[in-house]
Formats: sequence, C-alpha cells, structure tokens
Amino acid sequence: MSVIVFGSAIADIVFRLPNLPRPGETVLSEAGPALPGGKGLNQAIAAARDGAGVRFVGCVGRDGPGEMLRAALVAAGVDVAALRDVTEPSGLACVCVDEAGHNQIAVSPGANRAARAEQVQEIPRGATLLMQMEVAPAENAALIARGHASGARLLLNLAPAGTMDPAALRALDLLILNESEAGWLGNQLGLAASASTLHAGLGIGIAMTQGERGVVVATTAGVVSVPAFEVTAVDTTGAGDAWCGVLAAALDRGMPLEASIRRANAAGALACTSAGAAPSMPTAAEIDRLIARG
Ligand code: RIB
Repeated sequence: MSVIVFGSAIADIVFRLPNLPRPGETVLSEAGPALPGGKGLNQAIAAARDGAGVRFVGCVGRDGPGEMLRAALVAAGVDVAALRDVTEPSGLACVCVDEAGHNQIAVSPGANRAARAEQVQEIPRGATLLMQMEVAPAENAALIARGHASGARLLLNLAPAGTMDPAALRALDLLILNESEAGWLGNQLGLAASASTLHAGLGIGIAMTQGERGVVVATTAGVVSVPAFEVTAVDTTGAGDAWCGVLAAALDRGMPLEASIRRANAAGALACTSAGAAPSMPTAAEIDRLIARG
C-alpha cells in the first residue's frame, strides 16, 4: 500500500543554548544552517526511512529554503509530485534546544498556509493518510471526509493543538496527541485528558504519547500501555514526528497496532539520540536493532 502525508515542510533554524530563554531573557548562541523540518516533512521522511512508499503533499516557497526542503524529501525517496511551489515564503521555525535536549519552537507557517486538500488527487482504498496541524484545519477536515469515503486509514497528529471540526475527528481511525495536546482537547470537549476518556467521547482510537513514560492507546479492543525505550537524549526535536511516521509505515504494511506502537516507540527514542528534526529520523535497520536489544 502507500502512505500519504499531507502537511507542513519548514526550514528549522536551530539554536543550541545552555538554557531555554525565560520571558524577557536573551540567550546568545550560534545558529547552524537551516535544516529540513516541519511536522509533515519529518513524518514523511520517518515513514520512508522505515521502508514505506510515501507521497508528501504540501507547499514550499520559491526560495532557497523551499529548494532545501524539496531536496530533503527527494533524498529520502519521498514522492514529491504533489508538492507545490507557491509565492508565499517557505515556512520557518526557530528551534531552541537546551543542554538536556528539551526544546522550544516558534513556527511561521508561510507557504504551508497555501496547502490544499485538493492537491491529494487520489486516495486509494486501504492507503494510510497521515496529517498534522501546521496546515489549515479546514483542509485537514476536507481531506478526512474524502479519505473516509475512499476507505483509507486516517491518522491525525493533533500537533500543535488546534481546533478541528468534531465531525472530522470522529471520522479518524487514530488521533495521536501528547499530554499537553490531550489537556487542550479535553478542555475543548469538556472531557478528562485521558486516552480512555477521549476514546469514549469521540468513538475513535486515541494514542497518547507520554515521553519517557511510553504511550497509552485506547481503542475498542481496550486500553494498552506500551513502554518507552531508554536512550540518552541529545535533542528531542522531531521525536513525536518519528513516532507518527513510523507508526503510519508499520500500520500500512499490516503490522498489528500494538507491535506498530512498539516500533514507533523505538523510532521516537532513536530520534532523541541525534540533533535536528528530519536529520534524526532513524532507518528501519536502526529501529530493528533497538527493538532486538529490548
Ligand atoms: O516536531 C518538530 C517540528 O516542529 C520542527 O521540525 C519544526 O519545524 C516544527 O514544525
């Protein structure tokens, strides 16, 4: 089958800092060159490195960062036939990373605001469609409606947290969120921020990632906790994207949900062990080795 990622491509300017700036504080650092990032691009590259056939659908600007983002997708073997060049400048992110590998990210979506669901021309039955929230939510909702009608597997990573039509959420197979995104959504829906409560309230699968504490998944089959892999974190940027991309790749090739989540946990852990977002997406062999190590 195939994985279709509809979402953002963003040039990341990374600042390594002794500490993340507090309100009103200025911290000096040397920024490196812009690196490929954006949740959509990161997830597409993660799925491709894990062996999936991936099509990325989104927009970049007609500028240097846009060329760099397109080249990163092509180098990872991602199909970019539906990646549009638009007049708006490419998306940019300021990524601050402290000595413990924690980050703070500010994003200017730029060209990503021009991404349209209609760029996804064909959604084969059984394909896996993976979305995030750095493009217009209404475009995600339009794509979810089409994907539902086509019989695709529908995954949405609610990152960053933002308002989605509840009808679109209810059409998903799996909603992926971290604890703060779950808190935000629970607040919106008047529900407790737990995987089981969100599952009961929305009637869809919920995967709540909890960093070093692993992942809780609630589906009609029950609630399962899948532990995290222990690694030494250098930079956590993109770990959630590695998780989503590898989960999509594993589900797409027919792996059962719990095994797919274990594989995604290994990918998320590995992404923390090197710097950058897209550059830190692991290969299938690296994931296999970590799983074998246990
Ligand atoms: O999830 C990490 C990503 O978030 C970064 O690559 C940055 O571009 C932001 O979109």
